[in-house]
Amino acid sequence: MHSSDFGSDFIWGVATAAAQIEGAANSYGKGLSIWDTFAGKLSKIKNGATPKTACDFYHKYHEDLALVKLLRFKVFRFSIAWSRILPLGRGKINKEGLKFYHDVIDACLALDLTPYVTLYHWDLPEALSKEGGWTVYAINEAFNEFVRLCAVEYGYKVKNWIVLNEPFGYTSLGYMLGIHAPGLTGLDNFLNAVKHTAIAQAEGGKILRSEIVNANIGTTFSCSKIIPYTDKQTDVLAAERVNCLMNRLFLEPVLGLDFPTANWDILEKFAISNSIWRYKEKMTFDFDFIGLQNYFPLVIKYNTFVPIVNAWEVKAKSRRKPHTAMGWEINADSFYDVIMQFVSYPTIKNIIITENGAAFNDRLINDTIDDQERINYFKAYLAALLKAKKDGAPVKGYFAWTLIDNFEWAEGYKAKFGLVHNDFKTQKRTIKNSGYWWRDFLKR
Ligand code: NOJ
Repeated sequence: MHSSDFGSDFIWGVATAAAQIEGAANSYGKGLSIWDTFAGKLSKIKNGATPKTACDFYHKYHEDLALVKLLRFKVFRFSIAWSRILPLGRGKINKEGLKFYHDVIDACLALDLTPYVTLYHWDLPEALSKEGGWTVYAINEAFNEFVRLCAVEYGYKVKNWIVLNEPFGYTSLGYMLGIHAPGLTGLDNFLNAVKHTAIAQAEGGKILRSEIVNANIGTTFSCSKIIPYTDKQTDVLAAERVNCLMNRLFLEPVLGLDFPTANWDILEKFAISNSIWRYKEKMTFDFDFIGLQNYFPLVIKYNTFVPIVNAWEVKAKSRRKPHTAMGWEINADSFYDVIMQFVSYPTIKNIIITENGAAFNDRLINDTIDDQERINYFKAYLAALLKAKKDGAPVKGYFAWTLIDNFEWAEGYKAKFGLVHNDFKTQKRTIKNSGYWWRDFLKR
């Protein structure tokens, strides 16, 4: 398999996110984000890690972009930290923050790297979170202001935009389960966050469309093939509920299909009791591409003790399946299947795999990281992607997650997904063998 098998117009990129790499969390005029404050809370993040310095990308972006180039990627995906340019989330602008992203964009363009800019990759300004964050309607006005500012400021040189990163990720982990920032729990918080997120997703797209000539606009979704543990009706229905949450909840409103309530009375009740959910058009937008982010499949078993979903994940380890250091099952066939599940929506025009990758327990020996497992992972997932493409999936690109070991949210710095190793004491970068593998793969 060669990269050229995917076609000469296929776009190859590497993805990152502001809070995970930038550092300079509380300097150069940046306001705090919910991840800065969440990190201060005892026992919320492994080993008490914080995003305060992260990979110091803020100061080292020239070096890091040179690595992107050296590994032969053509696209650099990064996100704008909302609170770096609007420290309080709205109103007063931080000029130094605006300039930083101009500098990063210009550095990309000078290297002939195409920037794909994510507007929201989970780092909500703390000031907005204090007002209720994604649980209140005021968030939509603030978000629209942020989107418009970015579009007007950068739209003449950035044409590729991603409105949200994995809405199910931050609404479920941050507003229902409390394991991500801002650490809220409960069904009410979750459903309100879902509602405002679904609106933000479409309105963000509409603003970009109106402000930017020739924009290529997408948004991303986490997705997983959901497999019932047995063919018992209870397991099958439990798997369907999880599928409804994980794969359909944010996609279907965008496509004008409304929320996927049909299989699940809890969502049905919410839809009926909340009139704004009936405002289909507000949540609909004709995206130029849909970003899919896949890492693993999920095997689901009915469990009466789990509130609301009555479903439980049967972990890869207990099923004796190969898995990454995150415990995520390595299963490239399921990648193929979930792509095809999205392809079955006739109105999805183009797909980009905006994230895919794996964490392993890398060991740095004599300045080398021999991460053959990660290479094997990429090879298998790329082969599945090629098969999907040959079978008609309109997949236009693939972005590896991620350039460099970084701040992996609640996992802190323990989980290593990078193609490049980082020594967090010295900030020395060392290209892993998987990085070199990409460099060679992208040669032909
Ligand atoms: C999803 C998120 O978008 C990204 O921020 C995260 O680091 C990776 N997946 C790996 O968990």
